This record gives sequence, structure tokens and C-alpha cells, in this order.
Amino acid sequence: MAKVLVVGGGGREHAIAKAMLASPQVSAVYCAPGNPGMTLDAIQTVAIDEMDFAGLVTFARENTIALTFVGPEVPLAAGIVDYFQAAGLAVFGPHQAAARLESSKVFAKQFMQRHGIPTAAYQQFDDLEAALAYSQGHVLPQVIKVDGLAAGKGVTVATSYSQAATALTTALATSSTVLIEDFVDGFEFSQMVLVGGEHYVLLPTAQDHKRLNDGDLGPNTGGMGAYSPVPQITPAIIQQTVATIIEPTIAGLAEDNLSFEGVIYVGGILTADGPQVIEYNLRLGDPETQILLPQLQSDFYQVIGDLLQHRQPVAQWQTTATYLGVVLAAPGYPGPTKAGVAVPTLAGADYASVAGSPQQLVSAGGRVMMVTAHAADLAAAQQAAYQQIDQLAVGDLIYRTDIGAKGLATNPNEA
Ligand code: GLY
Repeated sequence: MAKVLVVGGGGREHAIAKAMLASPQVSAVYCAPGNPGMTLDAIQTVAIDEMDFAGLVTFARENTIALTFVGPEVPLAAGIVDYFQAAGLAVFGPHQAAARLESSKVFAKQFMQRHGIPTAAYQQFDDLEAALAYSQGHVLPQVIKVDGLAAGKGVTVATSYSQAATALTTALATSSTVLIEDFVDGFEFSQMVLVGGEHYVLLPTAQDHKRLNDGDLGPNTGGMGAYSPVPQITPAIIQQTVATIIEPTIAGLAEDNLSFEGVIYVGGILTADGPQVIEYNLRLGDPETQILLPQLQSDFYQVIGDLLQHRQPVAQWQTTATYLGVVLAAPGYPGPTKAGVAVPTLAGADYASVAGSPQQLVSAGGRVMMVTAHAADLAAAQQAAYQQIDQLAVGDLIYRTDIGAKGLATNPNEA
């Protein structure tokens, strides 16, 4: 029987660990650093920081870990996979060079241009005066992006020139490069694939809810809820996404000598001209993973093992239900949050930034837990998730009350 190590400590890692533990080939799953909510599901937490690569390698060796799965982007961008591979350990995730597809937006844009992958037109600047001059002469809205990891919060859709100027000034105060992208109107979706060289497994399509408040208002967050599948993203659109984005991305990585075993997450947008890439991530999405992995009917450990060996896995996904999850966050999120706020214990929930004991969890960061449900259709899944929340002592925790609303709208542009 195999032992698995999951690196990270959020809701995504909780879901990955549960999926690994469900494998008949796996005897134990450790999560470093994990969180106390995970122990409700017999996941063993290990007090090693996700950036302590030497500590993680020592733990993996001493505990004969057969497979390490890296959840978050920050250790991936810092080269954790290269570090594990140099130590001769099996690890699932992109090496540092490929992780630049997420950690550098300029690198990603140049990659897409080179390989003919559809994405919005852009200009990059490292000089504020030049950026402001371009912005003032360019049509609104404009999408201002910081060139670096920003936990989903480095993008501003500026609808006025003064908003654009503020975003550009802030961006260039923290990063040496900023991008100004043409605004593209459409219906956003998340399409992930598990990759092993030229082999891949397509996950069901999901939709995240990035804004804090109902109606897609308020500041950007890491994600406040998700559902899957997405009715508007039909099998024909998925096929088009595979043909015009997924396969050219995998082929482009091979052409650029950047092949790897890990995840490609396409932050996509369905436009009048077909699907386009808003951004790449090189890891599973959070909160999408919490409603995607429960749909896998095959052995997750085997799927990942096959991809690591560059074999095509057999991966079966459920096709009869819709899965939906609502994130609960500490007051103040995505700004400075209140620590020590009571977080309810709920079987089946995915926990994130919590401290305390499993029976008395408290907030220790922004997003604290996700409540998920599945049902025959999206409306029923939405109702089931919110019914669970209604029965919880949520106290001061905050959450959106409209997760799934866009999927329920007949016309994607209505929601
Ligand atoms: N759900 C957005 C992300 O994981 O970046």
C-alpha cells in the first residue's frame, strides 16, 4: 500500500487528499502543512511549511512516500518539483520553467502568440509614463495585469481612465512589468487537464465566482464558489477548447522543451469568436477542485501514477449530476481578516485557513471552508448546498448567496 504526501493547506489540498485516500492502493495521506479541519477525514497533517523544500524531501524519504502532489502555485513557481526530482522522488506538478506559464503573464502571452493560441491582444510596459500614455489613448474598458503571482487579485478591469491610471501606478510600484490587455466580453469558465507528457485527462468544466459579492460585485478574491458541469459550455464548445487551446498548449510545451507531469488549468472565456485563454494556471483551481475531484469515479492515485509514467490513464467521470460548492470566509476577506472567528464543523466540508481543534475550528486567514452538494441538476445542487449552510452556525462568516446563478441563466450574458 502506498503513502501519499499532498503539499499545501487549503480547501483544494483537502479535496486532493480525500481523493487520494479513496484509492484502494493508498494506506495513508499526509498533508503539509495541512489544516486541522482535514483531520476530520483521517488526513494526517504535518507541520512543515510548503516552502521548506528540504524539510518536505526529508519527510518524504523518512516516510517512504510513493507520490507527492503539489497543490499551490507559490512552491511550484519556486521550483519544488525540480527539487523533489533531483532527490529522486516521484512528484506531480510542473517544473519551475513550465510553471512560468502561470507565474509570468508576459511569458504566457508570448507562449500563446508563438503557438497560435487565442487570447486578447495586449501591450506590456515597464515604464509608468509610457503605460499611462498608452492607456489614455486606448479604448475602455482595459484589463490591467501585474506580471507575477497575485493570488487571483492582480487583475483590474478599468472602466475609467482614472481607474486605469491608479491600477497602473499600483502595479508598477510592486512589479517591474505591467500588461494592458484589450477587454474581451464573454462567459468565463475553468477547464483543467491532468497532463503526463503528451497524454492528458480532461476534467469536467467548472465555473468559479471570483468577486466577493452577489451579482459579481466587489473586489476580486481567490474564488467564492464553483459549480460543474457548466450548461453553457456544451460538448461542442469543450471539443473546440480542446482543439484550439488544450492540444496546442500541450504541443507548444513539448516544442519549447517544457513538457511535464502536472496540471494545466485554462482560465477560459467563451467569446463570439470562440473560446479564448484569459490566463493559465499550472495547478488545480481552488475552489473548483472541491467540486471536480468528487466527480472522478476512477482511482485518482492510479490516474496520477499513469501520467507520471506517460501512460494514458483510464479516467471516468460521473455524468448525471451537478456539483456545487459555496466558500465561507472570515469577515474582512479579501482584505485583512478577523482571526479566531468560530468555524462550524461539517462532515464532507473542505477546510482551508482554519486553526484550533477539529471540533472547535476558528478562522486563521481568508477562506475557511467550502460547503458542497450534488444533485440531479444545477438548481437542485444550489438549493442543497444553501440548505446545508442554513443549518450551520455560520456566525460572522461571509459567503455569496448566488453561486450557480450564471449557469441557471438561459443566456450567458444575462447573469
Ligand atoms: N479558482 C481560481 C484559481 O484557482 O486561481
